[in-house]
Amino acid sequence: MKVDGKHTRTIWLEPDGWTVSAIDQRRLPHEYVIATLTSLDAAAEAIRSMLVRGAPLIGAAAAYGMALAMHADASDAALAQAYDTLLATRPTAINLKWALDEMRATLQPLPPAERAKAAYARAGAIADEDVAINQSIGRHGFALIDAIRARKPPGQRINILTHCNAGWLATVDQGTATAPIYHAFDAGLNIHVWVDETRPRNQGASLTAWELGHHGVPHTIIPDNTGGHLMQHGMVDIVIVGTDRVTASGDVCNKIGTYLKALAAHDNNVPFYVALPSPTIDFTIDDGVRQIPIEERDATEVTMMTGRTASGRIETVRITPKDSPVANYGFDVTPARLVTGLITERGVLQADRAAIAAAFPERSAAA
Ligand code: MRU
Repeated sequence: MKVDGKHTRTIWLEPDGWTVSAIDQRRLPHEYVIATLTSLDAAAEAIRSMLVRGAPLIGAAAAYGMALAMHADASDAALAQAYDTLLATRPTAINLKWALDEMRATLQPLPPAERAKAAYARAGAIADEDVAINQSIGRHGFALIDAIRARKPPGQRINILTHCNAGWLATVDQGTATAPIYHAFDAGLNIHVWVDETRPRNQGASLTAWELGHHGVPHTIIPDNTGGHLMQHGMVDIVIVGTDRVTASGDVCNKIGTYLKALAAHDNNVPFYVALPSPTIDFTIDDGVRQIPIEERDATEVTMMTGRTASGRIETVRITPKDSPVANYGFDVTPARLVTGLITERGVLQADRAAIAAAFPERSAAA
């Protein structure tokens, strides 16, 4: 996507052929800063601290982290240590493990002298594949939005609600949930996006709003509890969210609060779609509620809030009583029965085992 007129991905290899740069998402929307990663530890910390975040981008960053590790030391021991270090950074998004498994399968059979070059090549391919997948998701998702347009009086606004950031910032480019949105906007459809602010880290208010604004897509930030009210009043035509892990049976894990949106959508007959690249499917598990590890993050994400003051300073302030305990679950699981469909690179699927296995037989059979 474009930032200030310049086409930019969220992560890329520098012309020196070994250092890796990424947009520092911790600083948005207040500052646009590029971070340069030069070691395995820097890549691991970038994922842990959410300098990079979003399931597909976590996968791409982990792949580049393996490449940085191989650049420093391509021994068997270093390969194993890089895999373990990166895998331990965040527990929920399965794209992390998928990318690390891809990297290990490429690198392990090679002699150490050939590993660094092969690692950068495979990491670059993973990044490129993510962009191509998201373009397909955009095409398939566009058909859903266009079908809503066809049912409405000519020119009437189509309202899409999204949660968290499953935008281009969460991927290498294009986004998953936002790919159909950008496609529809670029095709001239009259769309408007309700952006859930997504407490506690506010990925909707900080990131989704920032990127939609840069692309010129009309949008409105809403407090997280607003969606149900809007749906009751016919003000949401479709919900499209991303996901960090989908089970073989179609349960969907995504940012905390997604489940409540799915319940509200179900109660109001609003279609609830989940956009995902196939590396987000975990074919080894069935029961999302019981089998997906839910990340618990630091209490300060809830107790503190960062913003820019009227005088232009960036400040972090406490918004809760000093001694009140906090629970900060990062994700929740929406059961497959509440999901209208899965928007994948191979088309829109029913959220059920048979449809998922039929669309991705090679992955399903290998699991
Ligand atoms: O904690 P985050 O910001 O990494 O969570 C991101 C999400 O929950 C996204 O919706 C998900 O990763 C899909 S990204 C295309």
